[in-house]
Parts: sequence; C-alpha cells; structure tokens
Amino acid sequence: MSVFTSAVRPVLFRLGGGDAEKAHEFTLDRLSSLGARSRALLQSRYAVKAPVEVFGVKFPNPVGLAAGMDKNGVALPAWPALGFGFVEVGTVTAKPQPGNDKPRLFRLRDSEAVINRMGFNNAGAAALASRLEALGPLNVPLGISLGKSKVTPLEEAVEDYLTSYNLLHPYADYIAVNVSSPNTPGLRTLQDKSALGALLTALAGKTPVLVKIAPDLTDEAISELLEVCLAHGAAGIIATNTTLSRDGLAAADQPRAGEAGGLSGRPLTERSRKVVHFVHEETGGRLPIIGVGGILEADDAARMFDAGASLVQLYTGFIYRGPALVKAAARARTTAGEKAHP
Ligand SMILES: Cc1cc2nc3c(=O)[nH]c(=O)nc-3n(C[C@H](O)[C@H](O)[C@H](O)COP(=O)(O)O)c2cc1C
Repeated sequence: MSVFTSAVRPVLFRLGGGDAEKAHEFTLDRLSSLGARSRALLQSRYAVKAPVEVFGVKFPNPVGLAAGMDKNGVALPAWPALGFGFVEVGTVTAKPQPGNDKPRLFRLRDSEAVINRMGFNNAGAAALASRLEALGPLNVPLGISLGKSKVTPLEEAVEDYLTSYNLLHPYADYIAVNVSSPNTPGLRTLQDKSALGALLTALAGKTPVLVKIAPDLTDEAISELLEVCLAHGAAGIIATNTTLSRDGLAAADQPRAGEAGGLSGRPLTERSRKVVHFVHEETGGRLPIIGVGGILEADDAARMFDAGASLVQLYTGFIYRGPALVKAAARARTTAGEKAHP
C-alpha cells in the first residue's frame, strides 16, 4: 500500500462529505500552491526518465495527465513534479462556460470508476492563453484540448474551434481535438466524416493535431474516421474518452449507474485497449496513438503499449492510486519496449 492509498486518499475521499468535486478542487488548489522546493522534492521521488519521441515531440517519459483534470492549467508546474512526462490541459472552449449543474462528478469506489457530466466547465481559451503566457515554457510537452462552446451551434463548430486554436496553438506542443465528450449535446457527431474533415482542414498547420475519440464508436465508424484523419494530416489519435456504457460496474455501484455522463476507470480498461489495438492495426502504425482509459496498474499501461500506444494518459487511475501509478506506468513502457524489441 502506498502512502497515497493509506493516508492521502482516505482524507480526500472524505472531504465535503464525500463530494468528489470538492476533493478535486482541494487537490488542484494544493498543487497550484506548491513552492519550487516542494516540487523539487516530489520530482526526486517520482520522476522517471524513459524518453520517447512521438509525432516529432520529445517526451521525458510516455505517461501523461489526461484532459479534464487541470482544465484551466492552474497547477501546471506540479504535474511534472508528480512524474508526468506530459500534460494535456483543457478541454477549453472559445467562450468561458460554467458547465452543468452540480453534482456532476461521482466516484464509484467498488468499481474503481468515476461518472462525470462536467460539461466543459472552463474559463475559456483567452484566459488559458494569458495564463500560459505568464507561466512561460513548461519542462515537459504541453497538449491543449479544444472543445466546442455549448452555446455555439454545431454548424458553427469549426469557427469556434478555430478561435481557440488561434489563441492557444503558440503554447502547445500538440492540440487535441475533443469531439468525443458525451457531455456537450451533439459534440460526438463531429466524429462523422464530413464534419471532422472540415475541422481538420481548418486546423491544419505546424502544430500537431490529434483527434480524441469515443470508445462507443463501431469498428466501421472508427475506420471511416481514421481515413479522414490520414487524409487530412492528423498527427495521431487519442483513444479513448469516457463511455456511455454501464457495463462492468460492481453491484454496490449499481444505484449510481443511472447518473448521466461518461464512465471512466476500471470498466473502461478492456474497451479502450481494444480501440487502441484496432486503430493500430487499421493504420498499420501510421498514426501514433495516445492510449487512455482504465489504466489503474502498471500492467494496464504495459498492455496499452503492447496494443500499439506510443504514449498513455491517466485520469481515474490517478484519483484511485496517486502518483505511484505514474512512475509504475512509465517503467512499464520500458518493460513493454524490451518485450517488443528484445
Ligand atoms: C472528471 C473528468 C473530466 C474529464 N474531462 C475531460 C475533458 O475536459 N476533455 C477530455 O478530452 N476528456 C475528459 N475526460 C476524459 C479523460 O481525459 C479520459 O479520456 C477518460 O477519463 C478515460 O481515462 P481514465 O479511465 O484514466 O479516466 C474527463 C474525465 C473525467 C473523469
């Protein structure tokens, strides 16, 4: 048992009478106020060197923080100190927005899962650009995840993404196009051929653009999407976002199954890995993949790498296992790499 699971997690999970969003806010607040000495101390404990180069970007290790944890980039210097080899901020939208009504974040403990319907609560692209300008360069690559503002009609989605892109791409090592959150009405239809083609055409430039996909797509829909990505110069795929499925929940969590939103964590492990494998096979490795979904142990990360992921990201696993998981997952890459290339 790590210090995190035995001492830190019980405190976090009790905060606000068990309110998961309160724990999230408290954690971000603490991390954002860490001084340079505390960060250096953490870094000496958690940093792993396992360098990789993917889509032309050099990563100190292949384990990143997934989108949604630090939407507004308020705790950016803390993440590399906790061992992360890259950070994806956002999802941000062109217009600031409050997100859905609370409660909107639920832990399903027996299933090691989370349901969220946050709805892209964020301070907007301009606010993030100002923060990044003031902060200066990070010591690990930065991905910036873009989504559509809720008030913008779907027909105007391209301009909405482009507004955010123009403000933020100077700060990004890659841009993630989020067309797979289940919590913005209609957003997932942007995964369709013509809509995605138009979006990628508009965002084509020097900054690598990756497309984040849902785990609920059929193989046929994924194949079609991959063709569009290849034809329009996408730099890679992030697989996957949360699922609308409620399969794989423990009996004790069934009462929560009816909560609307996307499910993440352990019930997603197998599906995300299958999607990664499918993408890798379909493209013959031509599109690098960031594998994300249900990585809760080093072995889950190793399997993601074996399925074809070049990089992985954590969200729910980090909530349940803390920074020890980052280190273990980064080491798993080395092991998976050694297995693949003895
Ligand atoms: C509370 C919460 C908020 C999230 N917000 C975003 C988001 O803003 N943008 C995004 O692309 N993914 C978002 N995600 C999805 C994660 O980035 C990740 O794809 C998903 O949770 C699967 O990984 P996991 O099982 O490790 O959590 C969110 C997930 C959670 C749990």
